[in-house]
Amino acid sequence: MIELQGVSKAYRTTERATVAALHDVDLTIADGEMVAVMGPSGSGTSTLMNILSCLDVPSGGRYLLDGTDVGRMSKRRRTKFRGTKIGFVFQSFSLISDVNVRRNVELPMLYTRKRVRRARAMVALERVGLFGHHDDMPIELFEAQRQKVLIARALINDPPVLLDDEPTGDLDADSSREIMELFAQLNENGRTIVYSTHSEETAGYAHRVIRLHEGRIISDESGKHPLRKPPHLRAV
Ligand SMILES: Nc1ncnc2c1ncn2[C@@H]1O[C@H](COP(=O)(O)OP(=O)(O)OP(=O)(O)O)[C@@H](O)[C@H]1O
Ligand SMILES: [Mg+2]
Repeated sequence: MIELQGVSKAYRTTERATVAALHDVDLTIADGEMVAVMGPSGSGTSTLMNILSCLDVPSGGRYLLDGTDVGRMSKRRRTKFRGTKIGFVFQSFSLISDVNVRRNVELPMLYTRKRVRRARAMVALERVGLFGHHDDMPIELFEAQRQKVLIARALINDPPVLLDDEPTGDLDADSSREIMELFAQLNENGRTIVYSTHSEETAGYAHRVIRLHEGRIISDESGKHPLRKPPHLRAV
């Protein structure tokens, strides 16, 4: 479970000035949820995603991940902890163009035995629907497939939570749907998914939509969208 309690984030820009990107954010995300985070550019969505992924820590408030206070950990412990709990894909991530798909997926596991790392990469590729594409080079893939390779990389350790900052930001409508169908499927299989987007259609695949404005949560709605319902409202 993800729990933010009164989380704020200020970035230091000069010696004297800071920019406040999040203010007093309270947010609980239960296991198995699929949540979209929306907001105008600059509203703090990436800042929130960075904190959720433990890449960054709050300046104020607490982040409890499965009951553990992430802000109180050493950087080293936090990195290790994150590795077991969270897979993430961020805007700045890209594929290495001169190695094949499998090697791109293996990237987070470079210090693991080759045989283990290969096997895990193959499983991760299968999980995102790219079975048989392990030998392809990135340039041979469609855009949506390339995005899926990044998702496979994030899933290589089989984390219970997947975070993605603007998964469909650079994609056309069909590719976007393909990625969101994959997210829906990964979520059906029990994974918690949190992603940010500027697109209402992309947000519609989530069963809960959180809207930020100037660093504050201004709405948090569940089960309104016809495409998805929260787990407890779904037919079994
Ligand atoms: N490293 C940083 N140093 C200083 N200011 C930052 C830093 N990162 C973000 N900010 C500022 O914090 C605010 C929130 O930024 P953030 O990147 O979270 O917005 P965003 O909602 O993700 O925007 P977009 O939709 O354009 O990606 C903005 O005012 C931004 O300029
Ligand atoms: Mg952003």
